[in-house]
This record gives sequence, C-alpha cells and structure tokens, in this order.
Amino acid sequence: MGVTCHLDTTRFRKVILGLGGVLLMAAWLAVNSVVGAEKPSPGQASASASSRAIDFRRDVAPIFASCLSCHSGEKAQGGLRLDSEAAVLQGGVSGKLVVSGHSNDSLLMKRLLGLGDAPRMPPGSDPLPRAQIDKSRAWIDQ
Ligand code: HEC
Repeated sequence: MGVTCHLDTTRFRKVILGLGGVLLMAAWLAVNSVVGAEKPSPGQASASASSRAIDFRRDVAPIFASCLSCHSGEKAQGGLRLDSEAAVLQGGVSGKLVVSGHSNDSLLMKRLLGLGDAPRMPPGSDPLPRAQIDKSRAWIDQ
C-alpha cells in the first residue's frame, strides 16, 4: 500500500511537471512571437516611424534623394533645394515648406500628396511610397 501510494504520487508529480513545462514553453513562444513581430527587421529598421525620433539626415534625406535631380544646386526648381535640412526648412518660391508640428498645413505634404492645384511631386513619376510620405509627415510633426 505504502509503496503503491508513493509510486502514484511520483507519477502524478511527473505529469504535473511535464504539463507545467509545456505550458511555460507555449507561453514563452507566444510572448516571443509577439515581441518578434514588433521588432523591425534589420534593413527597414525605421519602418515604424512613430517608435523613435526621426533624424533628418538618417531618415528624411534618403527620401528626398529622388527629388535632387530637380531640387538641388543653383537651378533648383521652384527655388527649392532639398539637399540639406537647412534648405528644406528655408523652402522655395512659395515660402516655408514645413510648418513644424503641423504636417497638414505644410506645403511639403500637400505637394507629395498632390492636394491643391499644384502638381504632385515628383512630377511625371510615381508618388513616393506610403511609408516615405508617412515618415516625412512624422518628421514635420515631431
Ligand atoms: C522632374 C523634376 C522634379 C522632381 C523630380 C521633383 N520636383 Fe518638385 N518641383 C519641380 C518643379 C518644376 C517645381 C516648380 C513648379 C511647381 O511648383 O510645380 C517644383 C516645385 C516643388 C515644390 C514647391 C516649391 C515652392 O516653394 O513653390 C515642392 C514642395 C516640391 N517641388 C517638392 C518636391 C519633392 C518633395 C520632390 C521629391 C519627392 C520633388 N519635388 C521632385 C520639379 C521636380
């Protein structure tokens, strides 16, 4: 009797431990996959623009790279140079491009989205990808 009883408890304990282990593992995997999903993969590290401060040179300048053929140097179109943060903040013939903290009022967003009468930028080619437009917006609002 005493022996049987002892064996049973041991087996019982083993089952409980086993189950506990499986549950812990499952929980760990679940947490891990959630955390992993939020982590941007290297290469598109700043996909989630809102999660960290936006830096002009690192995050915004590459977006304007495709604009520089028309918006840099002495003959910049619309008097607008996009080759440095100072130049972007200075604006072009229409004045300020960026109303800090108010992306909706900013000429830059209007021109990128093609709102208003003026042509959408860049003219004659596809609009910037959504992520880049969102990042420009986040930079202005920041
Ligand atoms: C193919 C040449 C070309 C490219 C590429 C181009 N632009 Fe322009 N942009 C122009 C011309 C021409 C004007 C002046 C006429 C006008 O306002 O539409 C202009 C004007 C602007 C203005 C208005 C400036 C002002 O003060 O009135 C903004 C803002 C602007 N561009 C932003 C951009 C951005 C941002 C990009 C890149 C995503 C870009 N442009 C790419 C030709 C270009």
